Amino acid sequence: MDEIRIGIAGLGGRSRRWISTLLKMPGYRITALYDWIEPLHERALSLIEYRNDVVVFSDYEDFLSYENMDAVGLVVRRKDQGAMAAQALEAGKHVNMEVPAAHTMEDCWRIVTAAERTGRVYQLAEQTRYWGFVDAWRDLVAEGRLGRVTYCEGQYIGYYGTRQFFQDYKTGQQCRVEELPSHPGAEPTWLHLMPPIHYLPHELSPMLKVLDDRVVEVTAMSTGSPSYSHPEIDQPDIQVALMKTEKDRLLRMAAGFMQKIPSRRGHHWYQVIGTRGCVEWKRSEKGRPLMWLADSQMHDLAEVDWNFERTDAPAEAHGSGHGDADYYVHTAFRNAVVENKPLEFDVYRAMETAAPAVLAAESIARGTELMKVPDFRPNRSRASGQMPEGV
Ligand SMILES: NC(=O)c1ccc[n+]([C@@H]2O[C@H](COP(=O)([O-])OP(=O)(O)OC[C@H]3O[C@@H](n4cnc5c(N)ncnc54)[C@H](O)[C@@H]3O)[C@@H](O)[C@H]2O)c1
Repeated sequence: MDEIRIGIAGLGGRSRRWISTLLKMPGYRITALYDWIEPLHERALSLIEYRNDVVVFSDYEDFLSYENMDAVGLVVRRKDQGAMAAQALEAGKHVNMEVPAAHTMEDCWRIVTAAERTGRVYQLAEQTRYWGFVDAWRDLVAEGRLGRVTYCEGQYIGYYGTRQFFQDYKTGQQCRVEELPSHPGAEPTWLHLMPPIHYLPHELSPMLKVLDDRVVEVTAMSTGSPSYSHPEIDQPDIQVALMKTEKDRLLRMAAGFMQKIPSRRGHHWYQVIGTRGCVEWKRSEKGRPLMWLADSQMHDLAEVDWNFERTDAPAEAHGSGHGDADYYVHTAFRNAVVENKPLEFDVYRAMETAAPAVLAAESIARGTELMKVPDFRPNRSRASGQMPEGV
């Protein structure tokens, strides 16, 4: 195989970026599109020059049984998106899916065991792990420049406004709270109901890569709902998870979609503290990331010109989205499917970004109970391809 025949499932806002990126990348051919909202089909088709060769579906099972398709690009926003990924693997398709990987522990396990049983490629298209500064921080940690890392923070605190919280499923039109009176058919979407802490993959994925670690325990807290910013939205404004890792580090990670922030890219923030130094992401667009090394005659934190964009990005990566990082997830997936190149961000690491977030929400529901995060890799009590006992 030298070209992946891919079908895109979910034709909302994010899929447009997927389609335009895949159309430019060698090794991909879009052969199918799927969304249960039929009025969205034409908008997606209109982006594709060879549209007459693309088959459009509004039923997921029909889409999955389409033979002229090797892989599914899963770009839906739904409570059961993890189950949809597992179903696609079970149907014999490779899967590249948008974050988060799953919203329940059962769906995490379904994905792992389906990938193990079928041998199909499963990738979570989490792209922030490819940012330039993430590799720089990973190297600093691996070389011991920060000493023993004891603490790490990450947060996705941004403002979605009231966008995407209500949608008319007959027309596909999404509407803001202020527009609700003129959209009587609009219903709350999954984003309206999803615990914000489920959106931790963009923090866990890069920081666990930096630390080369995984979360083993999690507890969490939440502000109340409805939102203080928009009482029409039955969502808490902020949720915070406190986690412990296998290598005895503490992580504090937070997520919220309703907090007004000063800059467009300011919703991501990270810091790592070790026994011999620390690094910190910038606080404002004009600011710079910071670093301090205890053994380097540094009296204070120093500014470092790290960025999202990589200094070694090829020309094709530029403009692909999210500081060029979107390019890398599609490249890694293509190389895994076409060249059998093992994914660095494999199915186990992907679940390590989803499960702590799912369990953080469970901890909140149980009054901040401490939750244990399972190891998804096969071991003496779970053979590859088998569901663990009790799930
Ligand atoms: N990696 C990133 O930076 C990034 C950025 C934006 C969105 N996302 C992720 O991408 C996904 C999609 O986001 P979006 O903004 O396009 O959402 P959206 O709500 O605009 O679009 C999702 C689409 O999926 C469709 N859909 C939902 N359930 C379906 C089903 N069962 N069958 C068929 N179609 C179904 C909806 O009809 C809708 O058209 C989400 O999971 C989101 O978290 C990731």
